Amino acid sequence: MSIEQNYNRIIARLIDDIDNNTTDQAEGTMTVPSTAYTDPDIWQQEMDLIFKKVPVFVALTQEIPNPGDYKTLQFLDKPLLITRLQDGTARVMLNVCSHRAMTIANKPCGNQSRFTCPYHGWMYSNDGALRGVADQEKFGDFDKQANGLRQLPVYERAGLIFTVLDADGEVDFDCFLGEMMEDVGRLGMEKWHYCGQRQIHGANWKIAYDGYLEGYHFAAAHPDTIAQRTYSNVMEFGAYGPHTLICFPHLAIKENLKDVAPDQYHTQENNGYDWIRTLFPNISIFVAPEITLISQIMPGPGPNQNTTYLNFIHPSKPAGEDVELQGMMDFLCDVVDTEDYKVGLAIQRGLEAHAHSNVTFGRNEAGNQLFHKWVSWYLAKDPSAPKPTL
Ligand code: FES
Ligand SMILES: [Fe+2]
Repeated sequence: MSIEQNYNRIIARLIDDIDNNTTDQAEGTMTVPSTAYTDPDIWQQEMDLIFKKVPVFVALTQEIPNPGDYKTLQFLDKPLLITRLQDGTARVMLNVCSHRAMTIANKPCGNQSRFTCPYHGWMYSNDGALRGVADQEKFGDFDKQANGLRQLPVYERAGLIFTVLDADGEVDFDCFLGEMMEDVGRLGMEKWHYCGQRQIHGANWKIAYDGYLEGYHFAAAHPDTIAQRTYSNVMEFGAYGPHTLICFPHLAIKENLKDVAPDQYHTQENNGYDWIRTLFPNISIFVAPEITLISQIMPGPGPNQNTTYLNFIHPSKPAGEDVELQGMMDFLCDVVDTEDYKVGLAIQRGLEAHAHSNVTFGRNEAGNQLFHKWVSWYLAKDPSAPKPTL
């Protein structure tokens, strides 16, 4: 089945849901122990077995479009330096000097082809090669060639740059994300305009991710915003391994699609329905006509915290004053912060009170069920175990 046929099929099910007052459902309800959100040992296993082992998103192509552009990012215990070389390829490296481990690049982003370590002045080119040892006659022998910045794998697809934080051995990117990136690739985000970023702070990373996976909470938590445009508790799911497509119907879906042939439903994104595309373990992409939001959940520093970067892009530089664009980003950031992440922080307090031993995901929360099954699959460390499906 082509990507378009898959979309059409999911959207047709969504229209049936409106007609029949139904939604996509898992086979049964599912419980997850409350400690999965609070236990430091479980959190550490999630970091070691998931976040450090699978390809994780670290930058948008358009954050570093030109040769010499760079970005720094602290991801768990790894300080990253992400650069664009003269030949157009990207590098992801550990931002740590090979002399005595000082941080080399200290700004969040910029453009320069060489980096001088601020401690003793050793110099690196932006591909990580060590070019100069300060006062080398006095320092003594040092193999510059063997002591560049530590390189990490780089996968740049469909406008997104990924790395693997702890790459011991081969990582099969296409097996993990290939189909999903083919799907996301239809958007052509590698050519879009990068508008800016906001940061918000929230609870355990899974609480934040859970929030992107269901529309059951729209009526109660977003009565004046999302629920004004979108049905609450009506959604249809698709999946590529642990990555999900979630389709949410607008209140106007029947009206907007009434003259659209079913084999053309896929052409009407944002005109009757929206997609949330999630990339396990921590990314959600919401394409909207005004501005597209790519949320990047950064776990830690412990089980009860995350920092989320809200990255905003648009197919072209939005018309109008920059102040309007900034206002739109502030507004969306405010909705996620006050209507989702504040709820998440209250949930975290609830979980830490040990009031109930489990949380329960309903049959309607099928995306959350798939997500938690995949987390368990990784923590079980048994690659031969059957992989979870919807
Ligand atoms: S730590 Fe970088 S030059 Fe000394
Ligand atoms: Fe929400």
